[in-house]
Amino acid sequence: MQIITVANNKGGVGKTMQCYQLACYLANKGHKILVIDLDSQANLSTTMGVQIQRSLIPEWLIGDVALEDVIVPADGKGDFYQQIDLIPASRHLANLSKLLILSEGEIRKTAGRKERLLRGRLKECVGKYEYVVVDTPPMLGDELIMALVAATRVLIPTQAQDYSIDGLEELMDTFEIIKETENPGMEFSIIPSMVNTRRNIEKQRMEELAQSFNITPPIRNLVQMQESISLRKPVFKFGKRSKSRNDYNELWEFLQL
Ligand SMILES: Nc1ncnc2c1ncn2[C@@H]1O[C@H](COP(=O)(O)OP(=O)(O)O)[C@@H](O)[C@H]1O
Ligand SMILES: [Mg+2]
Repeated sequence: MQIITVANNKGGVGKTMQCYQLACYLANKGHKILVIDLDSQANLSTTMGVQIQRSLIPEWLIGDVALEDVIVPADGKGDFYQQIDLIPASRHLANLSKLLILSEGEIRKTAGRKERLLRGRLKECVGKYEYVVVDTPPMLGDELIMALVAATRVLIPTQAQDYSIDGLEELMDTFEIIKETENPGMEFSIIPSMVNTRRNIEKQRMEELAQSFNITPPIRNLVQMQESISLRKPVFKFGKRSKSRNDYNELWEFLQL
């Protein structure tokens, strides 16, 4: 079972987009997918056709609630949605850190350290799912750290204009610390995201990025990507000449997914 966490401490870089496209793509290949939405904005849950009042993720993490009780089937047009189970988020998840502090004593007794909670809970998913896709909030809090500790693979969508090379190095240093201390097997990929290839400045930034890091093929900034979310229709369903579909196909091929 591969656990793929999509992470960046910045917002609006295309994390949720990546999760949606990846989960749908893998589901369409016939794999059984578990999607976990750890962002209290719940955008991924909404795009997967699920809206709930109160997420049970904190209770599930601390072991008060079973997996079957937090899972909701994804809902949408297309058979591939039937392959996707979702653990949805809600606004109330914003209090996850506080809830974890309140149950700290209990966590220590039953599950060990809180950054390992998600990894521990996912052990019972082995055999049920081939891939777990985890969306994360845009800050380095408990949710993101848990998702990094649990991951076999981390995808980092990055907008070229957002980061100085230094900024990205700093983020990568943090990820490296988690790798060294908690998760030696974790692999990273930096994915240039929402790229405007016609702008010279962005081309230049991509070249600079490529000199300092191993980067994947880019995902361009395309209006059709936004349509994909608003129509809740993944890009693989668009025509063979669709740029969005081709960008993602190249990326998944490069990542051997
Ligand atoms: N490649 C892209 N081209 C055009 N719009 C995009 C692309 N990727 C994401 N978007 C749009 O940009 C906004 C932010 O993307 P989102 O995936 O929600 O970012 P994050 O989860 O990192 O905050 C959304 O409105 C999304 O539809
Ligand atoms: Mg998001």
